[in-house]
Amino acid sequence: MALLEIITIGHPTLARRALPVENINQEIVELARNMVETMHRAPGIGLAAPQVNVSLRLITVDLSVGENQNDLIIMINPEIIEAEGEQVGEEGCLSVPGIYEKVVRPSRILLRGNDLDGREIKLEARDLLARVFCHEIDHLDGKLFVDRLSPLKRRLIRSRLKKELDRN
Ligand code: NI
Repeated sequence: MALLEIITIGHPTLARRALPVENINQEIVELARNMVETMHRAPGIGLAAPQVNVSLRLITVDLSVGENQNDLIIMINPEIIEAEGEQVGEEGCLSVPGIYEKVVRPSRILLRGNDLDGREIKLEARDLLARVFCHEIDHLDGKLFVDRLSPLKRRLIRSRLKKELDRN
């Protein structure tokens, strides 16, 4: 297993729509394993392949950050097939370091995708789990959580990030 480099806001891969995984080969299995390791080490509760500069529809989610094996979900080509309700909560992102803002998400979603054996997975997610899936699937569509904020907030964040970059 290997730790992967996480790319940050401004990198073109993060703004691209990722392609579906057509064939679950050894390379995909290895990518998924390395993503899990990278997510746990970061530490984070979710990671999408574009964040490690691979423009494919693959995400890993683990609310327990490695504490509970049953909480780990690896999903290939995930799709939200139902969404309802609304929740407001703070989000951050390993690709947008140091920024935490409130984002509106559905409170319950129904998802469909495949596991690493190609089997179809269907699952219902609520509250924080629903939020993480929405956030990671946004990554697959080339969207960051800051893209969901108001134009004013986005401008403030951009200037904050720029100041940090100038300082380094
Ligand atoms: Ni993120």
